[in-house]
Amino acid sequence: MDMTQPLFKKVAFIGFGLIGSSLARVIQQQHLAEHVVASTRSEQTWQDAKALGLITEGYTDPVTAVQGADLVILALPVQATEVVLQRIAPYIGENTILTDVGSTKGNVVAAAEKVFGQLPQGFVPGHPIAGSEHTGVHAGKADLFVGHKIILTPLECSASWAVQRLTQLWQATGAEVVCMSVEKHDEVLAHTSHLPHLMAFNLVAQFTNRQDNLDIFRYAAGGFRDFSRIAASDPQMWHDIFLSNKDAILKAVDGFESQLCSIRTLIEKDDSNQLMQVLKEAQSARQHFNHMLKKNTVLEKQVTQQFSILPKKHHFKGTFTIPGDKSVSHRSIMFGSIAEGITNVTGFLEGEDALATLQAFKDMGVHIEGPNDGKVTIHGVGMSGLKAPTKALYMGNSGTSMRLLSGMLAAQQFDTVMTGDASLSKRPMERIAKPLRAMGANIQTTGEKGTPPVSITGKQALQGIHYELPMASAQVKSGILLAGLWAAGETSVVEPEPTRDHTERMLRAFGYDVKTEGNTITLNGGGKLVGTDIQVPSDISSAAFFMVAAAICEDSDVTLEAVGINPTRTGVIEILKQMGADISVNNPRIAGGEPIADIRIRGTRTLKGIHIPEDQVPLAIDEFPALFVAASCAEGRTILTGAAELRVKESDRIQVMVDGLQAMGIDCTPTPDGIIIEGKGKSGDWSPIFTGADVQSHHDHRIAMSFSIAGIRASEKVTIHGTETVATSFPTFTQLANEAGLSIDTID
Ligand code: S3P
Repeated sequence: MDMTQPLFKKVAFIGFGLIGSSLARVIQQQHLAEHVVASTRSEQTWQDAKALGLITEGYTDPVTAVQGADLVILALPVQATEVVLQRIAPYIGENTILTDVGSTKGNVVAAAEKVFGQLPQGFVPGHPIAGSEHTGVHAGKADLFVGHKIILTPLECSASWAVQRLTQLWQATGAEVVCMSVEKHDEVLAHTSHLPHLMAFNLVAQFTNRQDNLDIFRYAAGGFRDFSRIAASDPQMWHDIFLSNKDAILKAVDGFESQLCSIRTLIEKDDSNQLMQVLKEAQSARQHFNHMLKKNTVLEKQVTQQFSILPKKHHFKGTFTIPGDKSVSHRSIMFGSIAEGITNVTGFLEGEDALATLQAFKDMGVHIEGPNDGKVTIHGVGMSGLKAPTKALYMGNSGTSMRLLSGMLAAQQFDTVMTGDASLSKRPMERIAKPLRAMGANIQTTGEKGTPPVSITGKQALQGIHYELPMASAQVKSGILLAGLWAAGETSVVEPEPTRDHTERMLRAFGYDVKTEGNTITLNGGGKLVGTDIQVPSDISSAAFFMVAAAICEDSDVTLEAVGINPTRTGVIEILKQMGADISVNNPRIAGGEPIADIRIRGTRTLKGIHIPEDQVPLAIDEFPALFVAASCAEGRTILTGAAELRVKESDRIQVMVDGLQAMGIDCTPTPDGIIIEGKGKSGDWSPIFTGADVQSHHDHRIAMSFSIAGIRASEKVTIHGTETVATSFPTFTQLANEAGLSIDTID
C-alpha cells in the first residue's frame, strides 16, 4: 500500500447506524479515505452524521451517494439489501468494492445474484462481530471493533485485490479479519448470536404477557437482567435477521427445543443425578469457554499480567504440595478417553494446558466429569469411539496437546483442525507431521513455517514404522507411538537419548503392551486400553522453582511432598547436587505406576558452577530457566551445551533468559545450543546477586517463574511482564511462593 495515499478515494455508506458510524469514525480518525459520504432514509440521520464530522456529504438518495465511490458499504437492515442494490447496481463499476455489514450472508448474496446476474468482482460480503444494544449514529464508537472478529465471506467472483483492501480497512479498526464460506458463516452465527437473541426476546415477551409482569421486572435479579440484556436491541434488525437466516435458525431452535425437553424431563422425573451431570458439564464448559475467551482477549489486546518482587530479607521455608504433573495429566485424559470403561484420575493439574486437552476430548464426545479438586472421571469411549468435533480444537499454549493429539487424530475416521495461542502458533509441528505422513497420515501444518494450525484429514489407513528421532523429544516419540496404536503392524521409535517415558508407562498401566529395549520403544497396533485409576504425582518441573529458590536463599528449608521422581525427569536434582546443593530425596515410593518422593532442600551453602553433563539435558529440559538462576548465584562459570531444543519451547528460552539475566546484572552469553553464565556467588556470602530490573518473560510460564525466584536475591525491585501464562502449568505458584516467604505482587 502507498502509505502517503489514503486507502480509498470515496467511501459511500448506505445506511448509517451503530456499525456504519463506528467504522466512519475510524476512517476519519486514521484518514483512510479522502471523502466519506452517506445516504440514509431520514435526513436527520445524515445531518447528525455531518454535524459530528463523520461524513462530508449526506443524501437521502443512495444513487447520488455511490457515484464515483471506490468503496460502497451497505450498513442497513439486511432485508433492505435487494431494493437498494436494484437502485445502485448501474453505478457499481469494475473497480468498486461493494461490501456489507449484515449479520446474515446467504440472503445478501441471493439478493445480489438476483440484481446483478453475474456478480461484480469487487463484491465481498462481510460481517463485523461487534455491536451493542445501543443503536444509531450517536451510539457509534471508534473502538467498537477493537479485539473483535470481522468475518469476510469472499465469493468465487471476489477479486483478491478487493479482499485485500477490505482486510486492510478492517484491520485498521483493531479487529481480526477471518474468512469463511457464506454457509459456514450463517450456521455459526445462528448458534452464537441469532439463537441467544431469539431466546432473550422470547423470555421477555413471555413475561410481558403475564399479569404479574410488573413484579417480575421490579424484582428482576441478576439472572433476568443478564439474560435479557440483548432483548433491548433493535427489533427491526432482529426481525430481518430471523427471517433472513431462517433455515439455520430453525435448526438451532430445534436443537434448543430438544435439549429443553430433555432437561424438563429430568426435573419432572426428579432425576437428580442426570440433572446434576448436565448442569455440571454445562458449568465446566462455560468456565472453560470463559477462560479461553479471556485468554484470547488478553493476547489480542496485548494486555498482560505482571509480577513484582520487592527487595527485602526474604526467607523461604515450609512444607508444600506442588500441583500435579502436566505431562501425566495430559496423558491421563488422552488414554482414559480411548480406553474401555472408566478411568478415575486424582491429583490432576487444573492448569490451562491440561484443561485444553480435557476440553478437546469433550469436544470429541467423551463424557468427562470434573476436574473437581484434582479428581477427574473419564468415561472412555474405546479405540473407535471418538466423534468429529464441530469446530477446531483449541490447544491454547500446549505443545504437548498438539503433538500427541496429532498422532491420535491422524488415525481417526474424521477430519480435524487444531489451533493454538500466539506462542503455540510459532512452534514447529513438522517434527511430528513428517513421521506421521510416513505412516500414511494426511496431515498439514498450515502456518507459515511448518507451524499451527494443524489440519488432519481422517480415514487414512496407517502403517507402523520404524523411526529414528532426529531430536530428543518425548512429545514426538509419544505422538508416533499413539498413532501406532491404530496402525497396522509394529511401530518403533528410537531416541537419540532417553526422554520422559510417561507415555510408555501409562500405556502399560492401561493394559497395552509396550516394549523398551535400550533406546527403542516398540508397540503393535490393533490392541485396546482398559480404564484404570491414575494418581498424578506432583510436577517436578514446578517443584524445580521451589528447589532453586531454597538453594539460593540463606537458611531456607523447604520440603516438597510426593513429587514425581521418574528417572527420566530427575535431571534437575542431579544437576543441583553436582552444583553442591543441600538436597535430599526421602521416603521414595510408587504411586500410580510412577516413583515419587519427598524432596527436602536447604540453603546452607553457596552453589558452584559446573559444565552440565549433556546426558542430563533431556532429563531436565524444562528446568533450565530455573537452573540458569541457580547458576547465576553459583561461584564460577556454568556451561550448558547440547540444549538447542530450548530455543523452540514456549519461547526461545536461551535468548529470553540471557536478555533477562543481563538486565539483572549477570554476565552471560548465549551459544547456539546453550549458554555460558559467569556466576556471581562467593562462598558463604548471601548478599544480593541480581540488580533490580524490568524483564520480559515473553509470555513463557517457566521464564516468568524463574525470574520471580531470582527476586529472592535481588537488590532492588524486579518486575516481570507477561506472567499470565503461569496459569498454564502452576496456577497456585504465587500463592505457594508467598506462603514460603517470597512476596510477589500481581498486577493485572
Ligand atoms: C513433554 C515433553 C517435552 C517437555 C514438555 C512436555 C511431554 O517437550 O519440554 O514440557 O509431556 O511429552 P519435547 O518433547 O518438545 O522435548
